[in-house]
Amino acid sequence: MRKEKNIIPIKPLSRTIPLSGKINKQDSHWIDTRGRPLRDLRISVTDRCNFRCRYCMPKEKFEKDHSFLAHTELLSFEEIERLARIFVKNGVEKIRLTGGEPLLRKNIESLVTRLSSIKTHNGKNLDVAITTNGSALSKKAKSLAEAGLKRITVSLDSMNPETFMKLNDVGFPVEKVLKGIQAAEDAGIPSIKINVVVKKGVNENDLLDIVRHFKGTRVIVRFIEFMDVGVTNGWRMDDVVPSRQIIETINKEFPIEPADPNYVGEVASRWKFKDNGGEIGFISSVSEPFCKECSRMRLSVDGKLYKCLFATEGFDIRQMIRGGATDEEIEQAIGRIWSARDEHYSEIRTSETHKERLNNKIEMSYIGG
Ligand code: GTP
Ligand code: 5AD
Ligand code: SF4
Ligand code: SF4
Repeated sequence: MRKEKNIIPIKPLSRTIPLSGKINKQDSHWIDTRGRPLRDLRISVTDRCNFRCRYCMPKEKFEKDHSFLAHTELLSFEEIERLARIFVKNGVEKIRLTGGEPLLRKNIESLVTRLSSIKTHNGKNLDVAITTNGSALSKKAKSLAEAGLKRITVSLDSMNPETFMKLNDVGFPVEKVLKGIQAAEDAGIPSIKINVVVKKGVNENDLLDIVRHFKGTRVIVRFIEFMDVGVTNGWRMDDVVPSRQIIETINKEFPIEPADPNYVGEVASRWKFKDNGGEIGFISSVSEPFCKECSRMRLSVDGKLYKCLFATEGFDIRQMIRGGATDEEIEQAIGRIWSARDEHYSEIRTSETHKERLNNKIEMSYIGG
């Protein structure tokens, strides 16, 4: 018997693009119903990944017969640049390329070059960053640096070779990712961060090793609470290790103290080593939601706009682009979408709200991390 295709909602519900409605704008930024400006756009450039992290693309759900998007469905680099210019004209200052694994997108460097040349509304260079699993970084760090990339974040959940392989679930060795991080340093990419997703009973005992390894270097480690993104990762509140607990553990071995945020709405709370060994960060979306200052919009691989990481519906901007809409029409549509935004999922997250959305939340590999 033929096996059924995987039915994960990678083609989630689409909302109608609003053709009328108020556009709220203040000082070059669109403002949502909670007074939050749009400053930050995260673009997923591919829904594919060579890893199968259990908290993101569990193997049994993303099998060989899983339908990834066809190349023609992806936004082209021209389309991404066109949208990026519209966003930046209206106040976006930062664009992060994500996935899936963004370095799997062919010639990603040329997209970095295109985006890095854009100037923001106040005449600064657009801040372009990438979040990657680091598997291709040894090969790509130099070309990314040459393309103008200034900031990179590498996911690294454990330095223990066995745990790392178990976490990526494809047997990828941790040394290769560490070499990739080194390559990023050697290539002179100015800002390098490490994302560590912490899951109870899986990697919580590996965290001090990571701190020790990067302390005193220019690489900044951030610990992320395991989140209920998508519908496939089997999230349970019980699997979350609150940042408070990690802070206490680290503080016993390496004394740390809180530091001021770099900018309003920074996702990570910053802490400094008391002995001047640099800084670390904590992203506590579950225990201390940061929706109040959330200035992020997400653009999926196939051109749908999402107002929240935990959204269940997106707005099909690709349809507008490919249907011949003008820049002005697209600009107005996005302005209306943001102006009507009320999303604040992490503030209302409970085991109950998680269950309510369990069948239709979008996967992170599609919407972008
Ligand atoms: P910079 O401050 O620009 O360095 O980046 P960042 O803090 O946005 O970092 P990054 O993009 O690496 O985000 C880190 C992680 O925080 C993401 O991978 C997500 O797991 C989480 N995160 C980022 N944005 C949001 C958000 O809007 N909501 C929630 N709940 N989590 C987010
Ligand atoms: N919870 C928290 N962080 C996650 N990431 C992926 N899935 C989850 C999840 N369920 C992280 C990745 C990467 C970034 C894109 O998001 O590890 O660093
Ligand atoms: Fe791939 Fe990143 Fe998801 Fe892991 S977390 S499966 S590396 S996209
Ligand atoms: Fe922003 Fe949604 Fe994350 Fe809250 S849960 S910070 S609104 S993306």
